[in-house]
Amino acid sequence: MDWWRTAVVYQVYIRSFADANGDGDGDIAGIRSRLPYLRDLGVDAIWITPWYPSPMADGGYDVADYRAIDPRFGRLEDARGLLADAHALGLKVMIDIVPNHTSSEHRWFREALAASHGSASRARYHFRDGRGPGSAEPPNNWRSVFGGPAWTEAPEDGASPRQWYLHLFDETQPDLNWDNPEVRAEFESILEFWLDIGVDGFRIDVASFLLKAPGLPDLPERSEAISRAEDPASWDPAAHPYENVGGLHEIYRRWHAIAQRHGAVFCGEVHLPPAFTARYLRSDELHTAFNFDFALRPWDAGAFRQSIDATLASCSAVGAPPTWVLGNHDLPRPVYRYGRPGAVPANDGWNAWGRIEPSDRGRGLARARAAALLYLALPGSAYIYQGDELGLPEVLDLPDEARRDPTFRRSGGSDVGRDGTRIPMPWSGDQPPFGFGPPGSRPWLPQPADWRELSVEAEAGRPGSTLELYRAALRIRRDDPGLAAGSFRWLASPASTLLFGRGGGFACAVNLSTEPMPLPSGARVILASARVGSDHILAPDSAAWLVLDGAGTEATWPS
Ligand code: GLC
Repeated sequence: MDWWRTAVVYQVYIRSFADANGDGDGDIAGIRSRLPYLRDLGVDAIWITPWYPSPMADGGYDVADYRAIDPRFGRLEDARGLLADAHALGLKVMIDIVPNHTSSEHRWFREALAASHGSASRARYHFRDGRGPGSAEPPNNWRSVFGGPAWTEAPEDGASPRQWYLHLFDETQPDLNWDNPEVRAEFESILEFWLDIGVDGFRIDVASFLLKAPGLPDLPERSEAISRAEDPASWDPAAHPYENVGGLHEIYRRWHAIAQRHGAVFCGEVHLPPAFTARYLRSDELHTAFNFDFALRPWDAGAFRQSIDATLASCSAVGAPPTWVLGNHDLPRPVYRYGRPGAVPANDGWNAWGRIEPSDRGRGLARARAAALLYLALPGSAYIYQGDELGLPEVLDLPDEARRDPTFRRSGGSDVGRDGTRIPMPWSGDQPPFGFGPPGSRPWLPQPADWRELSVEAEAGRPGSTLELYRAALRIRRDDPGLAAGSFRWLASPASTLLFGRGGGFACAVNLSTEPMPLPSGARVILASARVGSDHILAPDSAAWLVLDGAGTEATWPS
């Protein structure tokens, strides 16, 4: 079985994971020092967010040089050392590749600004004259995912009129022109560069955005990416001018061939409904893609069930493994999301956070723990975002001056942005930096003083801690290969609960109702997110892994 079909992948947000040199930013040496922690946690692979030289306007997703390491994170030698260490521990390493845009500090973009209109240098990006008198209006109506227009006027260059350049994210992240063969060739060479160094795969940033429809047509009013959450039915991914443009498949077929030669894999950040995502998962394209459909579901049995069914059906149609995701560096922490009352949507759009809503931390934690047992029991691969294994809450009260996410600035403060999910990890000790960096160092984002109880040191070995729940779940999953790859079947259960079997008698029960859920008779509890008493009742907002008496469960999900 290919490792990536069932792998549990741990996402390392490098800047916030572990800071060995005390400069406030996490680094490669920090990751190396914590690899034994990850091995003991029981994951199979790590995905490291961008480590390339970057002005950090968007946390490293603004890459200035794709073939080097940012000095704040280390050197290429450190990256080689990390790969060697990880491989020695049996861990695979995936890195982030950011092909949709470069940093405005990238050599290509500097050249483009210095070059004339219509030049080969400008043709690597999307430069256009503006609309209206004096070219004063942006060339089309596209909006930046981070707020504001997706176009910025290039600085004065003596020519008239000035041109505009496209950036679907921050103005420091100009979009590359993927119709340009030079851009394609460059990224194929970048993939080879890192494959030669020994990475095991790539997570592809905004994988469905690279190509733009010819002529860069306006977005029809109702189909803007951000209107998806308001009215998903009106959003047609087949008719979008910059998302899911058909020719993308050809690009990924070429990438697939490159990865194949090195035995490496891809995971695409594809924000599309499952049926559309699956088209990127055909056997000669991407190996896997993030399951945002699942990650964005509210705490609701019907919603989860629908997402699980849609995911399994669309992945099985193309023979690809599903992935299951609860969080990442762009999404509010599960503890916050699931702690909100009722079935509120988990997220208000792409990365958009919008306003902070009231959320009950205790309820959120109970549900996040139950969700952990739910998603780790599903067939396929699973992603753990650093800190979710500790049950970290979202940090909601960051002072404005501490916020770094460009979303905050570009939305004029109406969207608080993603910093609250990126707070540096608490490892040990009683006060900040909680072992994230050496004593006295100042993490790049402030940590809450009350994270003492949530550190790895505090949770390790503490019965019932979230860390121990994850460790136990991953141990069981590892010991029972049928759990990741085996059969899947829904079993009858009370309203607003979920119960499914995974073959060999293994079953997972999740109680999303407000009533206690009686467990099937004869079920033996092997792990639970909250105590199950001798009455065999599963409390609301909790989940349990069971071994069922008798015949076990039939296979309906292909291995
Ligand atoms: C992806 C990344 C996000 C980044 C954006 C632009 O969504 O996960 O952090 O801001 O792409 O690169």
